[in-house]
Amino acid sequence: MAPLFDKYLHLALLVTAAKAAPVPQAPCDLVALEQAADAYIAAQTAGSLVPLQSVISTSWTYMENNKNISASTGVLMTALDIDHRRTNYDLVTCATYTEVVAASGPYVIGTQIRHDTEGLVTSIDTIASTTGSWLFNATKTLQYVQSEDPGWTPLPVSAQSTREVIQTAGDAYLDMWSDAHAHERVPWGTPCVRLEGSAYTGKGAANDSCQPGIPSNHSQAPNTHRRYIIDQEMGSVSVFCVWEHMMNAADSHEFRLEKGKLRYVHTITECGGKTCKL
Ligand SMILES: *[C@@H]1O[C@H](CO)[C@@H](O)[C@H](O)[C@H]1NC(C)=O
Ligand SMILES: *[C@@H]1O[C@H](CO)[C@@H](O)[C@H](O)[C@H]1NC(C)=O
Ligand SMILES: *[C@@H]1O[C@H](CO)[C@@H](O)[C@H](O)[C@H]1NC(C)=O
Ligand SMILES: *[C@@H]1O[C@H](CO)[C@@H](O)[C@H](O)[C@H]1NC(C)=O
Repeated sequence: MAPLFDKYLHLALLVTAAKAAPVPQAPCDLVALEQAADAYIAAQTAGSLVPLQSVISTSWTYMENNKNISASTGVLMTALDIDHRRTNYDLVTCATYTEVVAASGPYVIGTQIRHDTEGLVTSIDTIASTTGSWLFNATKTLQYVQSEDPGWTPLPVSAQSTREVIQTAGDAYLDMWSDAHAHERVPWGTPCVRLEGSAYTGKGAANDSCQPGIPSNHSQAPNTHRRYIIDQEMGSVSVFCVWEHMMNAADSHEFRLEKGKLRYVHTITECGGKTCKL
């Protein structure tokens, strides 16, 4: 058979196969999520909305520190030299969570990006902490984030949990402020480390625990208006909320579970432009 004919026959077979068995539509286009997260990083790096133009829906909304504002007045307009970014993907709700550290900003930012069925961005929801925010020191946060980064690898299937288990763990943790029994529902793992602003509980020991310092007063105002991004492969859930007990702060908690047990907690908390105080 002549090579050329062979090539066309191959193409013809491919077309026939495609017609006979169309590839089922994935619920979310991972590539679209990746492109949008990259465009968001490009926009934040440039201090401009232009890099977002090709990925954004005409009717998108922007929220910063739990307030609906115009993106053109937000932190996206500040060019930042980004030292660290990690994006987690929710392939069920078509959304991403990106953690950003810009030591020179100084800023530590968490951003949830949601997409429509076409893959376009419908909302950018950001919690942007800076000087005055809870336990803020971006240089220190960067050091901790970089040192634990090798631990944030995709999990083998055997170490993954269901979306429900991951979300329930995050909710149980956030319920500890207002529910005396919530800590019993948190699947505490070992070692477990908390990075809260720039405060780190980890000592690099095999028995590091996330339990010292958890809320002991369960009569505090609850953590409300929760928004979730769940990445099953990372074992993570990002939860944005209003931390009512902390001056109604805009709060981001990210949790990672391995084999169903809590191993990492990251928090970013901003207090409406005021210095955070408990
Ligand atoms: C922000 O806008 C969204 C969508 O329009 C709305 O659901 C939400 O309640 C608003 N949030 C605040 C805090 O105003
Ligand atoms: C932030 O942390 C770094 C590294 O630990 C330290 O050198 C610096 O003094 C801290 N900055 C402030 C403002 O506390
Ligand atoms: C962790 O291990 C160290 C040294 O092995 C020990 O001193 C410490 O008490 C242990 N901590 C906990 C919380 O078990
Ligand atoms: C617990 O928190 C509530 C709400 O802030 C406060 O009124 C109460 O005094 C606290 N209880 C204790 C024992 O600190």
